[in-house]
Amino acid sequence: MDQPVLLEMKGICKEFPGVKALDHVDLKVRAGTVHALMGENGAGKSTLMKCLFGIYSRDAGTITLDGREIHFKSSKEALENGVAMVHQELNQALTRTVKDNLWLGRYPKVAGFVVSERIMDQRTKEIFDTLEVSVDPKAVMSTLPVSQRQMVEIAKAVSYDAKIIVFDEPTSSLTESEVEHLFRIIDMLKKKGCGIIYISHKMDEILRISDDVTIMRDGAWVATRPASELTMDEIIRLMVGRELTNRFPPKENEPGEVILDVEHLKGRYTRLRDASFQLRKGEVLGIAGLDGSGRTEVLENLFGSMTRDGGTIRLHGTEIHNRSPREAIRNGFALLTEERRATGIFGIRDIKDNTVISNLKSYLKGGICLSDKKMTEDTEWAIQAMHIKTPSQKTQIRSLSGGNQQKVIIGRWLLTKPEVLLLDEPTRGIDVGAKYEIYQLIIDLAKEGKGVIMVSSEMPELLGVCDRILVMSGGCLAGEVDAKTATQEQILTLAAKYV
Ligand SMILES: Nc1ncnc2c1ncn2[C@@H]1O[C@H](COP(=O)(O)OP(=O)(O)OP(=O)(O)O)[C@@H](O)[C@H]1O
Ligand SMILES: [Mg+2]
Repeated sequence: MDQPVLLEMKGICKEFPGVKALDHVDLKVRAGTVHALMGENGAGKSTLMKCLFGIYSRDAGTITLDGREIHFKSSKEALENGVAMVHQELNQALTRTVKDNLWLGRYPKVAGFVVSERIMDQRTKEIFDTLEVSVDPKAVMSTLPVSQRQMVEIAKAVSYDAKIIVFDEPTSSLTESEVEHLFRIIDMLKKKGCGIIYISHKMDEILRISDDVTIMRDGAWVATRPASELTMDEIIRLMVGRELTNRFPPKENEPGEVILDVEHLKGRYTRLRDASFQLRKGEVLGIAGLDGSGRTEVLENLFGSMTRDGGTIRLHGTEIHNRSPREAIRNGFALLTEERRATGIFGIRDIKDNTVISNLKSYLKGGICLSDKKMTEDTEWAIQAMHIKTPSQKTQIRSLSGGNQQKVIIGRWLLTKPEVLLLDEPTRGIDVGAKYEIYQLIIDLAKEGKGVIMVSSEMPELLGVCDRILVMSGGCLAGEVDAKTATQEQILTLAAKYV
């Protein structure tokens, strides 16, 4: 506790129409340490950071950086004064190159002139080399996987040479090896004396890398403790304000007859080489595996969002093709993608529109107009079932917190009542309390006789919610375990089979 305080935020308040987002919040960050910021979805974490970074102006409170009171009016000003931030939402120029994205708005100049491409290339290379980031600076952003785009964003923030760096859920789209890479970068920044603010819903990450932890609830400060004095249970208790005894709801679903029979599924331009399996009525089937093992590709191939190179799919014994997502939806499939924010959100539309959009057919009245009453009811169901934190159904989805936006999209797919529901990392970015609600909804759907296939990189979640777990390795199905009796070690052994 002997490092000097680098940043002090005191009594920060911020109100949006109908929401008191921050109510006298305090935060002290010491030089050369990682300070974790935790709290449920909508607790105010991102808002607090946006007040620091000059994106929002605070209603009250003071911010002192290095002993000097500051009041940034824009993110540009924040960056120029030693505060950088990796945002929860990626906002990149997708049609431009990696290099352009890195230098956008601050092209290096010499004597007032923007430098040549050659020097820019050289500086980009220097930054990437120091951070050991292996992304081609000339690649067009949209051609890169989201995880690499995120690494570019991290490199960019670090390249400002800032004293304070904020990471707002940086790992939600990173692969496991990239997470380790980020932690090495963070370690390097610590050694340089930077203050790091780290926001995440992943407890193990927090306990591993942070020195101090501040917990917020409903826009208010709850506690600040050294990480070494905290346990996972204690953090959960402080976050949700009560004891959370069970992390998983009881499994009340009963798998019945086979509804889906998949043989030798193979992707054309993907890693997926061979997967055969069956899904039963009322079953929750998990898919485990390391990153790059072809987990996501199984779902995308089934849903027709990727070209297949072979294999058959039978639904109730009849062969189906699912050549496109449209055809898959007609056959009763739904897919919740891993990249929900990039692919699923209509930002300026309200929560209701975003909830009902995939289900419009079921609201038709006499084939002509839509039943507003039913749409309102269904949206209300989603808000209640998943505890979506919002002033009303009419609120624009983009003004919700990141996690609450995710919940709206999950609600959208649950409402389509699909026969086969495909979920890719359904609880990513969701807080612990709300995870339970989502597990409950998954089990309820299975109880109603639907089949659910769920990909997750969190093994406790697979073991806690699924009936059976398929394990992918190197693009092939390496084996299958019974979730009631399996252990994490068994899954890991299978996952390494073809690596
Ligand atoms: N621009 C905005 N307009 C209106 N309300 C907003 C706006 N930004 C945030 N809010 C509200 O402020 C509250 C805090 O949101 P914030 O994004 O800070 O939560 P968070 O702690 O980052 O949650 P998450 O873990 O889901 O990212 C939420 O109720 C949110 O709906
Ligand atoms: Mg947030």
